[in-house]
Amino acid sequence: MGLDHIPADQDWFVPNASMAGPFAPTHSEVVAQDLQVIGDLPADLNGMYVRNGPSPAHAPHGKYHWFDGDGMLHSVRFQGGRATYRNRWVQTDGLKAETEAGQSLWPGLKERMPEGALPDDAMKNTSNTDVKFHNGTLYSMWYRGGAVYTVDPGSLTTLGKLETDPRLVGLQISAHSRVDEATGEFVFFAYGNRHPYMHHGVIGADGALKSLVPVELPGPRLPHDMAITRNYSVLHDFPLINNPEALARGRYSLEFRQDWPTRFAVIPRHGTADQIRWFEFQPRYMLHVANAWEEVNAQGETEIVMLGTPYANPRGYDGGLDVQRLLFTIGTQGTDYELYQWRMNLTTGATREGIVDDILNTEFPMINTRYQGVKNRYTYNVLMGRPRTLEQPHFAGLVKYDLQTGAALAYHPGEGYWFSEAPFAPRDGATEEDDGYVVGFVWNGLANRSEVWVTDARDIAKGPVARVILPQRVPHGFHSCWVRDDQLSAARVA
Ligand SMILES: [Fe+2]
Repeated sequence: MGLDHIPADQDWFVPNASMAGPFAPTHSEVVAQDLQVIGDLPADLNGMYVRNGPSPAHAPHGKYHWFDGDGMLHSVRFQGGRATYRNRWVQTDGLKAETEAGQSLWPGLKERMPEGALPDDAMKNTSNTDVKFHNGTLYSMWYRGGAVYTVDPGSLTTLGKLETDPRLVGLQISAHSRVDEATGEFVFFAYGNRHPYMHHGVIGADGALKSLVPVELPGPRLPHDMAITRNYSVLHDFPLINNPEALARGRYSLEFRQDWPTRFAVIPRHGTADQIRWFEFQPRYMLHVANAWEEVNAQGETEIVMLGTPYANPRGYDGGLDVQRLLFTIGTQGTDYELYQWRMNLTTGATREGIVDDILNTEFPMINTRYQGVKNRYTYNVLMGRPRTLEQPHFAGLVKYDLQTGAALAYHPGEGYWFSEAPFAPRDGATEEDDGYVVGFVWNGLANRSEVWVTDARDIAKGPVARVILPQRVPHGFHSCWVRDDQLSAARVA
């Protein structure tokens, strides 16, 4: 199989930063076993790395945005020092309709919506954003929210949709839902352009809907992620919106309201709408949460702590927030982030917030998922390089944060490498938080090929202990998860 930069079958390739180099689509669905490895693949690394991302199947009509492409899952299964790669598109309703039509049918994010169509309905749910393992299957999800597709973790065959309960049909479930490994629950939020603009829900370990609560917002918002603690969920209302007048004309134009606060809703996991408590903070915008947990302070009061990687708030010459620069960064997939913490005191209602680290520029925070919702010590983030080209965010390396000491270790192998979100994979039998590996795709631009790099989580600075050579290019993409061997063996579909 060739390793060409652009596949030969891609005769419709058009020059576009979001479809060039490491972003270029891959059109082959392949299975490749016993992959070549540089270094030694650890025998105590057993499980599956799976990542979602866009790979447009049909030539776009008009302008293409990185977020528009059809969702494609890429998995690497590790077993006793051997690796198998597999990739498949998520067979969404939209992709099936376009395959039948033989062409693109939906406009992209940069295009005008069809006359009169509400944004809720006008875009294709590409299911290209996140992937999680729950109740024996993979869930493939879309950042704008929509039907969640269920996928066989072994073959990556699309099975159907999660929304079998009629109460879930039509909800726009966000890509960034959370799985609590302690209870087996899948905690999600949905959002959209219709009142009440947000819902919070919990699906039990058996797949049954346990809770669904409306969360009333003042208007349509653009939340991206949420957090869970052992007992609560934290939902986001940032002052970033689609300009209402542009929206009414079928276009998307971001607006940041610096006169509005950031608001977080804290709701007991199985609570009701009247139990929601709102906490206000400085105006900011954030895509991804690293983790959240409950802490009891010296006064015996419970505080909720949430850690994440918001955009840095750029300042103008007068010291005030430079809104245009912030919007330019967000709108062009620029990368300027901080590690940041918010604290919400459930007893007094008091809030605190502040920068944890603004020295390194990192995003896509991952943790040992056994610590989801409880206090963790380590996060593994992607080190962000300065973009060379607009709309080509450069994932330049990896960073391990030690939240206890405040230390950070960064690894950057030099020019020409593009990383991907890299989840933590525990070593077989591990009991300590960082006893394991960080596993992620790397586009090796020097050798013109994709690889998977396996790095010892306790020695990030050493670089990869093993590099798996992949049979085809994996287009630059979004979110991923690690599925342990014991989870795979309990999977519903073999
Ligand atoms: Fe995301």
